[in-house]
Amino acid sequence: MQYKHISVMLREVLEAMHPEAGDNFIDGTLGGAGYTIELAKRILPEGKVLSIDLDNLAIQNAKNKLKEEELDNLIIVQDNFRNMKEIVQKNWLEGGASFSGIVLDLGLSSAHLDDKERGFSFQFDTPLKMEFGKAEETTEEIVNNWSEKDLSRVIREYGEEKYAYKIAQAIVDKRKEKTIKTTGELVEVVGEAVPAFYKRKRIHFATKTFQALRMATNGELESLEEVLPQALDLLAPGGRLAIVSFHSLEDRIVKNFLRQESKDCLCPKEAPICQCNHEKKINIITRKALMPTQEEIKINPRARSAKLRVAEKI
Ligand SMILES: C[S@@+](CC[C@H](N)C(=O)[O-])C[C@H]1O[C@@H](n2cnc3c(N)ncnc32)[C@H](O)[C@@H]1O
Repeated sequence: MQYKHISVMLREVLEAMHPEAGDNFIDGTLGGAGYTIELAKRILPEGKVLSIDLDNLAIQNAKNKLKEEELDNLIIVQDNFRNMKEIVQKNWLEGGASFSGIVLDLGLSSAHLDDKERGFSFQFDTPLKMEFGKAEETTEEIVNNWSEKDLSRVIREYGEEKYAYKIAQAIVDKRKEKTIKTTGELVEVVGEAVPAFYKRKRIHFATKTFQALRMATNGELESLEEVLPQALDLLAPGGRLAIVSFHSLEDRIVKNFLRQESKDCLCPKEAPICQCNHEKKINIITRKALMPTQEEIKINPRARSAKLRVAEKI
């Protein structure tokens, strides 16, 4: 299958990373290798990029692209970026891992949606999987085993779906009759749960439910929370962390983390003296998140919800 993905905010990410000959980078979300290749070209001859992705398709595609580009200053690892420190220990044989920049471009790639086998899209009727790599539970297991309360919470919180409660109820009712196995069956259940006017909206009525279940399947928020402190530790002084997110909950996690690490003390205001001994580790470069230009959104509508935040290690 051909891997198609247009990199989002590539120019802004490269400006934030300002790669120079000899620098080393981590790209935690290789995807279509858009960031990786541009970084790898700019740090020749001695700099290297360590690129991570859970998805085998992304890894195979990137290997082919690198051959075409005749680049060999890359290490590609199939793993979850939540294991970033361990990945570096195992694969960065140079030791003394301190990187000039680490970049994350969260979520799924367009290639996932195009892949008819993967269950990410409700445009095709396929088994309910939605896994980037090997997930602890498939979407089918979540849909058929989780309690109504948990399904409702996830669909409401991750999907920001106002009919979450009704959709969760409909899922639980349906699975009493038979296991929900395909994307088509799930779309049908969602369709039965939401009002008629909701189905006439521009955005497909199952979009938010699918997004929520994908995030739950891949533990996307948990992975993000785990990788941020590791990434900070792996940066050299002056090194930069750049994160592109597409979901308000992801952006909130990134924003709160950066805000916290840019402060010297985290004690409550009322505390007469500092007890936490927290030390400021970064300067925030983007006071407000950067957004894609209108020009970019025209060419690539998928970029419209992107937010880029950048910080520099002290
Ligand atoms: C938006 S794409 C990245 C696109 C890339 N920046 C480019 O320019 O082509 C996100 C990629 O991150 C991968 N991914 C998502 N969560 C991951 C995780 N926790 N660990 C490793 N890879 C992950 C997905 O499989 C997907 O390929």
